[in-house]
Amino acid sequence: IPVDPFDLVIFGGTGDLARRKILPGLFRRFNSGQMPEEARIIGAARSDMDRQAFQNMIREAVAEFGGPHDPEALDEFIGRLDYVAVDAMGDGGWEDLKSKLREGVVRAFYFSVGPSLFGALAERLRGFGLADDDSRVVVEKPFGHDLASARALNVTLREHFHEEQIYRIDHYLGKETVQNLMAVRFGNMLFEPLWNAQYVDHIQITVAETVDVGGRGGYYDKSGAMRDMVQNHLMQLLCLIAMEPPARFEPDSVRDEKLKVIRALDPVDYHQIVRGQYEADDSQPGYRAHVDNPRSTTESFVAMKLSISNWRWAGTPFYLRTGKKLRARASEIAVVFKDAPHSIFGPEAGTHRNVLTIRLQPNEGMTLGVTIKEPGPGGMRLIDVPLDMSFADALGPDAEDVPDAYERLIMDVIRGNQTLFMRGDEVEAAWAWTDPIIEGWTARGDVPKPYDAGSSGPEDALMLMHKDGRKWRDIR
Ligand code: BG6
Repeated sequence: IPVDPFDLVIFGGTGDLARRKILPGLFRRFNSGQMPEEARIIGAARSDMDRQAFQNMIREAVAEFGGPHDPEALDEFIGRLDYVAVDAMGDGGWEDLKSKLREGVVRAFYFSVGPSLFGALAERLRGFGLADDDSRVVVEKPFGHDLASARALNVTLREHFHEEQIYRIDHYLGKETVQNLMAVRFGNMLFEPLWNAQYVDHIQITVAETVDVGGRGGYYDKSGAMRDMVQNHLMQLLCLIAMEPPARFEPDSVRDEKLKVIRALDPVDYHQIVRGQYEADDSQPGYRAHVDNPRSTTESFVAMKLSISNWRWAGTPFYLRTGKKLRARASEIAVVFKDAPHSIFGPEAGTHRNVLTIRLQPNEGMTLGVTIKEPGPGGMRLIDVPLDMSFADALGPDAEDVPDAYERLIMDVIRGNQTLFMRGDEVEAAWAWTDPIIEGWTARGDVPKPYDAGSSGPEDALMLMHKDGRKWRDIR
């Protein structure tokens, strides 16, 4: 279904994110017929280039990052693009940009720039009369560096826009399988009655990456895995897995429930967190070389044990881990159920647990480990077998046409649907929980544990679960 006609201005329109994700994503939506005839996209950046040069730049970017395409369709899409050079901190270009905007269409402004420019852009959008109370602004992560800076950003943005106009992106929320978490939990009768401390032994959330931080060292070394991944993406996954059923699939209904989870998180004892940093191997430099800081103590890996103090989850630990340069790219959530209260088959049948694994990427799907009798005459021996579903196999070609995270989120901006965007108080609550952990590391002069590139992370991360008599699932 096509969205309403729109003018989308992308500040930072020549930047990496715009070229790799935003514009190729918009092209795919265009290809699938979701972008109406009257849609226009205007790149805005400091570079003094003309429309033609911008169009050429984006043509190359879409050809490289947009997947297979028909050249005629690409021509038509490129025809929708325009460019204006603007000075984010001064007056240059703003009148020009204003003259390109049309009345009677949705106006959205995407801040694909560093947070230090958010305030200047917001002020000029209002000051030069480009934005009104119906316009929308989209802001990228990182949304601040800590609680104080996130608060300051919220204050600045709200000086110029209402909360209903501000779309804070966490691209994990735009992933098909992340939304599927809600469908699985709240669309089925089967799981929800068991989704609590009475039946769940623990939950594991893993976001493992194989990529290193080469090329992004300047940013990454000041952030680390805790700020770059846990405070936002893993926190969002945790919220969706742990929250109470919202009354409706509507922005505030969902976000209220997520916020309650973050607020119910207990402070984390530092013994329950392991930080790691990947080392060099024979063929590749290690983290410190990548960030060009031989003494860096920033973590490229973090594993932790969390607890949520509420009626549903008291007593059920949540184990989270994420890192770069690990054995495989694998993101999944595993819900490990408790043992049956009594085994009628006696001790020789062993202990068996149901595990529901939701694979977020790659090979999106779900597996439910079920205990059955081992076939054959050997008596009542039990084995665990997977009830396995890969979305690609189950849904066939339909599974291929799913929009990627950015495409979906941008279309949601145009539709005016904030459900998959973070509200200001949510981001602040996540920082309020993260800050003391990071401050604790700084105060203690904590040094991350080294780990081999291509491994599952530092030994200590394995111990974090072993000492509780539990085990991480393999990263494969
Ligand atoms: C980004 C982080 O937000 O998410 C990156 O800054 C990380 O460090 C990326 O690699 C992971 O996203 P995805 O979609 O590849 O899982």
